[in-house]
Amino acid sequence: MIRIGVVGTGGMANGHAAAFQGTKGVTVTACCDVVEEKAGAFAEKHKIARIYTDYRKMLRDEALDGITNVTTDAMHAPISIAALRAGVHVLCEKPMAPTLAEARRMARAAKESRRINMIHFSKRNAAGLQAAKTLIRQGKIGRILHVEASYFQGWLAGATWDDWRRWPHRAWRLSTRHGSQGVLGDLGCHIYDMAHVLCGDIATIDCRLATYKKGVRGERMGEYVFDANDSFVSTVVFANGAIGTVASSRWCTGHSNREFITVYGDRGAVEVDFEKGPNTYRFAKLGVNGKPAWQEVTCKPVPSLYTRFIRAIRSGRQDPCDFANGLKVQAYLHYSFASDARGRALKVKV
Ligand SMILES: NC(=O)c1ccc[n+]([C@@H]2O[C@H](COP(=O)([O-])OP(=O)(O)OC[C@H]3O[C@@H](n4cnc5c(N)ncnc54)[C@H](O)[C@@H]3O)[C@@H](O)[C@H]2O)c1
Repeated sequence: MIRIGVVGTGGMANGHAAAFQGTKGVTVTACCDVVEEKAGAFAEKHKIARIYTDYRKMLRDEALDGITNVTTDAMHAPISIAALRAGVHVLCEKPMAPTLAEARRMARAAKESRRINMIHFSKRNAAGLQAAKTLIRQGKIGRILHVEASYFQGWLAGATWDDWRRWPHRAWRLSTRHGSQGVLGDLGCHIYDMAHVLCGDIATIDCRLATYKKGVRGERMGEYVFDANDSFVSTVVFANGAIGTVASSRWCTGHSNREFITVYGDRGAVEVDFEKGPNTYRFAKLGVNGKPAWQEVTCKPVPSLYTRFIRAIRSGRQDPCDFANGLKVQAYLHYSFASDARGRALKVKV
């Protein structure tokens, strides 16, 4: 039996606990949250035997094989590093960390520990994305020339899910002092990761960020000051010479979660659009007469990152969605901020 501990018992942790409790040969033995009542209710809901309010005590007292770190972004580094040093495998939520320096420390701790380490870039669970990757690797679209990658949410513009002003559980996402890197960190990490999965390393980034007024008195909600960015646009150059745009915003009315990427090559194009379904992609192939024809393809689901984490623990073979990959994505975030601050394109150094 593989024993898992869940750290952070907020919204996203429900998916983690349900997935692990539903996996044969896996059991969630403990959960931890700084808010004891939250941990208690969560334990009851997911049938977890023991609760903690201090992750260090949980790591000391439980014989865990792995933890899943579903805390707010500011706690990703300290908790993941402590677990790895305690010899425990770690699945950590995205974005990897609030800073490149912390992400580097996490990657170093992961390497030294030789434990399984993964970042939960959940968009990789999309079969359409994985099929598009295979298609590109097989040379079906030829040489990559141009890329468009965007992730749109609309919850700041209207009540997409609920009125965030009345239910302030998302307020930490708007506040840098609570570890948020704004939409660039929250959604930008996903869309940069998707671009990286399909097109390889990004060599230079020229980014602009925007933080718009939310119309709330004082532009704050209690301790949460709304200073984090809500929109960004980057023009990027990939190491293979292709150019593209990577963008995201929380002001995209009419979209709850729309992420799409189109990669154009010299022999065809491929597109993954999550609004059409994560397990589909579109492929445009140049016909014999040079006329392109788009076709929609539906693929079989692929194993989730939860399944891959457990498989990696069982086999002892590190999964490619690891901290080293997370570090590259964190570098894209870092150079996006730096490029905006300096007003020019910057070379990415991991
Ligand atoms: N991969 C995805 O698709 C995806 C989707 C949503 C959220 N996320 C990520 O998941 C993480 C959690 O997001 P959420 O929406 O569940 O947030 P949330 O605010 O609902 O939950 C976070 C929980 O962590 C707890 N916490 C904070 N510090 C802690 C500590 N030191 N020890 C124990 N618990 C602590 C908080 O009390 C809270 O209950 C974030 O990093 C977010 O970016 C990922």
